[in-house]
Amino acid sequence: MTTPTEIQFKDVDLDAVAGAAGKVVVFVGDDGKLDAGARKVNTLTRKAVARLVESETFVKKTPGDVSVMAFPAGMAAAAVLVVKLSRRPDSQDARKAGAALAKAQGTADLLVMAGSINRADEIALGLALRGYKFDAHKTDEKKPGGDVTFMVSKPEVVAKSAAPMAAIAEGVFFTRDLTNEPANVLTTNDFAARLAAMQELGLDVEILEEDTLEKLGMRTLLSVGQGSDSPTKVVVMSWNGGKKGDAPFALVGKGVVFDTGGISLKPPAGMEDMTADMGGAGVVAGVMRTLALRKAKANVVGLVGLVENMPSGSATRPGDVVRSMKGDTVEIINTDAEGRLVLADVLWYTQERFKPSGIINLATLTGAILVALGHENAGVFSNSDELSADFIKAAAAEGEGAWRLPMSKAYDELLKSRIADMKNVGGRNAGSITAAQFLRRFVKDDVPWCHLDIAGTANVKSETALAPAGATGWGVMALNRLIADKYEG
Ligand code: BES
Ligand code: MN
Ligand code: ZN
Repeated sequence: MTTPTEIQFKDVDLDAVAGAAGKVVVFVGDDGKLDAGARKVNTLTRKAVARLVESETFVKKTPGDVSVMAFPAGMAAAAVLVVKLSRRPDSQDARKAGAALAKAQGTADLLVMAGSINRADEIALGLALRGYKFDAHKTDEKKPGGDVTFMVSKPEVVAKSAAPMAAIAEGVFFTRDLTNEPANVLTTNDFAARLAAMQELGLDVEILEEDTLEKLGMRTLLSVGQGSDSPTKVVVMSWNGGKKGDAPFALVGKGVVFDTGGISLKPPAGMEDMTADMGGAGVVAGVMRTLALRKAKANVVGLVGLVENMPSGSATRPGDVVRSMKGDTVEIINTDAEGRLVLADVLWYTQERFKPSGIINLATLTGAILVALGHENAGVFSNSDELSADFIKAAAAEGEGAWRLPMSKAYDELLKSRIADMKNVGGRNAGSITAAQFLRRFVKDDVPWCHLDIAGTANVKSETALAPAGATGWGVMALNRLIADKYEG
């Protein structure tokens, strides 16, 4: 498991600057004024900082950008990193600055002179998040990252506000690791074992095996996994940090550990990306981890349907009809529209068992959401103006894009089947919406519900502000904030 770099917070000691090995970081705002740390470096380097700050290159930089002064005379350091940042940055700029530092750090130690900056905790979060590397399967490239020390006035206070952020970084890393892991390693068994290991953190973790799922009548879920040698599972994670007896909030995730498309086989190009088709379940797991690590004062259950969609002699055929746990029958037109079959039964089970105060499900559900929104925004579909607005607000505050799309009865018509209660695809048009309409049939009208289609945001081909290419962990921070704001207030 990848763990975030441990970041130390210490009292400011200007005498440590001259002899510090590695890289020394100072901050200068738009006003060009040097704080004590920057002044110290400026004196040691015979005014190199002041010259940089007056230069056109620095003036043109935007908040969070870094200028590198390599091998400065008068100091032991390999480089001075001058960050453009005001003393009271907003959290996005502070995280961006931290991310830029992570990229400039390499394997060196960092001494961050953040004495006058009031969001050192957010800088540390950005540094941790962008410092992530998935190198579990790299034989020669495993290099330990350098140490990071922040010098701040009141280190105890900063360390205290940074603690929940360390919990966030660890949750995001857990999601990224799960999502990046190839499907021969992260089988349904391995996934369930990694979730069960979170019992050490105080989470209750229960694993429902195929015989139990069969008894519960979860035939839409089981139909997806019946072509695979890996057993289908549902994992239930519970965090009871709130008032006893308060209905929990529920998170539900699509955990397709690999999606070949089944008998409706996908084309070869890009099929390897379907190793990340458990991204929704990965986010649910990451949020549960963060809640446990920061001992959240809320009752939250996280349920994931773990399954592999494979073609074989026992696989579901196009045209098969299966009965859901709810009782409705589904004609499976396309075995590649499997995510909704997984979620249908897990959503129904969640409502029957937990009577949740609300549900948010996450799924890499449709390629069509990439066509509509690209990698910048997840699609939000909901039966509740309030819950969707609250989620979108939380996502905006965390810099995670989310955009609501419509739902209505008219789209629902597209799911009519000649021989069953519904079919599992609606045709070419409005593919993300018909998928959402399908899910809605398994959500009770009085339960506030949001479906997040994260096929575009969970996994990216080139780096984002706070993540290298690959799994992003999109949604962990937004959901953590939503729970903190809405249920811990
Ligand atoms: N897992 C895919 C969706 C997906 C596509 C995720 C690209 C990430 C990147 C999903 O199971 C799927 O195959 N959806 C089909 C639905 C169609 C058959 C109605 C799709 O989007 O093509
Ligand atoms: Mn599919
Ligand atoms: Zn899928």
